[in-house]
Amino acid sequence: MTQPGLPVIVRSDKGMMQIIMNRPEKKNALTREMYALMAEALEEAASNETIRLVSFKGMGGTFTSGNDLMDFLNQSITAESPVFRFIETLVSFPKILCAQVTGAAVGIGTTMLLHCDLVYASEKAFFQLPFTKLGLCPEAASSLLLPKVVGLTRAATLLISGDAIDARTAEDWGLISAVFSEESFDAESEKRLLKVAAMPPDALRRTRALLRKPLEKEMRDALLREVQHFEELLKGPEAAEALQAFVEKRPPDFSDFIWPPDHS
Ligand code: COA
Repeated sequence: MTQPGLPVIVRSDKGMMQIIMNRPEKKNALTREMYALMAEALEEAASNETIRLVSFKGMGGTFTSGNDLMDFLNQSITAESPVFRFIETLVSFPKILCAQVTGAAVGIGTTMLLHCDLVYASEKAFFQLPFTKLGLCPEAASSLLLPKVVGLTRAATLLISGDAIDARTAEDWGLISAVFSEESFDAESEKRLLKVAAMPPDALRRTRALLRKPLEKEMRDALLREVQHFEELLKGPEAAEALQAFVEKRPPDFSDFIWPPDHS
């Protein structure tokens, strides 16, 4: 099924649902509406017995530039925000979850991959967690999952420097499953995903559950910790400066901020 014009397009074929972020003019930056649509699509996939596998993609050569920064500026984030409904559906999703990443995978564009079973990227894809640069902190249980996936040192490198890594590095670090050339990416990644979608569903279901279920409580605890810090930081002066700088297309200036007392 194709719905051109919608910010999220959902297509289902041969047991695979593709959830396609479709806001290429803003590098597929995710709005509240898009999180709600993606959560709905995941819920539909979970309850539709013909679907075995879901894959996220981005339109226009970008996976996603992460949360819409204007939304951060204009709307507060709380545990009730659509982004958390989306993250919750990722955590509890019972089917095989995958991603086909081209171009930028920024912020939640990378943290959502930690909830996926198979992640394929094209050679020019890159992965970035710029939370600290934005005066923010990790989300989507990445403070728990990223060190488990890539190790503490690499997780700290990504989360503290906020610098991007390329697809080959992400593959070496175990963040993604495989890298394909730009030319062969669509066909190759789709072929592999369809192969999995044709596999025995009960075996697939139990395998994802065996890998993920033991982590569920830890993930929920991490989400609660993260959302509290995230909400506080988003309302604070550091994020205000970072977001204002983004709007004004200038580098942020954090030189006047002092190291804060620890209230945790
Ligand atoms: N939120 C809102 N708008 C965004 C956005 C975001 N996360 N990412 C990109 N855009 C907008 C840009 O402001 C620009 O809008 P304009 O044409 O009206 O000026 C448009 O999308 C194209 O972005 P641009 O920066 O020109 O594309 P690029 O190819 O040079 O760079 C990125 C792509 C993704 C590397 C870059 O846009 C970027 O770093 N974006 C911010 C990512 C971010 O911090 N996300 C939040 C994570 S928590």
